[in-house]
Amino acid sequence: MPLDQTSLLIELEPVVATNLDRHLALAKEWFPHEYVPWSEGRTFDGLLGGAEWRPDDSKLPDVARTALIVNLLTEDNLPSYHHEIASLFGRDGAWGTWVHRWTAEEGRHGIAIRDYLTVTRGVDPIELERARMAHMQSGYVNDHNDEMLHTIAYVAFQELATRISHRNTGRATGDPIAEQLLARVAADENLHMVFYRNLLAGAFDLAPDQAMRAVADVVAAFEMPGANIEGFGRKALSIALAGIYDLRQHRDEVLAPVLRQWNVWDRTGLTGDGERAREELAEHMSTLETQAARFEERREARKKRRGES
Ligand SMILES: [Fe+2]
Ligand SMILES: [Fe+2]
Repeated sequence: MPLDQTSLLIELEPVVATNLDRHLALAKEWFPHEYVPWSEGRTFDGLLGGAEWRPDDSKLPDVARTALIVNLLTEDNLPSYHHEIASLFGRDGAWGTWVHRWTAEEGRHGIAIRDYLTVTRGVDPIELERARMAHMQSGYVNDHNDEMLHTIAYVAFQELATRISHRNTGRATGDPIAEQLLARVAADENLHMVFYRNLLAGAFDLAPDQAMRAVADVVAAFEMPGANIEGFGRKALSIALAGIYDLRQHRDEVLAPVLRQWNVWDRTGLTGDGERAREELAEHMSTLETQAARFEERREARKKRRGES
């Protein structure tokens, strides 16, 4: 008999409690204001009559600016994510403590990145605000509705994906201040990933077939949380062409290591749908391999055409 949502919540609570303690012991306190060069700031036009933003105010390379906007809008949508996990995990006991702690940590990411971009005039503040309004009004809905294990599998991959994307965005800025800030944010995302990865490992012990099904479905349908940002396709392509986040990294640095940690390939004790899910997963990983290789070839050819290598 598959475990229903309530049984999963109850059975997994001790895993949540253990990993919450682990998280709190490892998480380092940090302060967004320390990562922002405030003395570089200048008053803007409008109410206070300062200088309007001009494209040459920004010292960021185009692609770094695009990636920072995508990352920031993604962080901005936190109220929607909070709603999703609070409705699913509840706000009681260890689950609730985690939901609120996680939300508070994520809140810091948007604050820090926005302060940095506003003070350094890295992006057009009016365009950014309009994009934030549009993005938040479209909200975020978990593709996996109220399926607990699917959601946990999704966030495990997604936290690692944002870690890599923040980290590589920092490098692409060419600004040591942004690089330090985004490395700091990426370190938080890594701890979040470990929490969810351990939680799903607990689910694998408890209900291996259901956990495998969740993982296979999530890998097959994976989309970044910012996928509904306006113009996401174009932005994601330039981010991929710059090697900030591409299919190769998605497959080899996000999916594969987490799957290995769950021991999906060598796990015994699967039956029926669990076995089927593992076969689907293997097939999907090999399709991704082909697609990643094809993308890399095209990217190389493009670079050669443009005389970039
Ligand atoms: Fe974040
Ligand atoms: Fe996170």
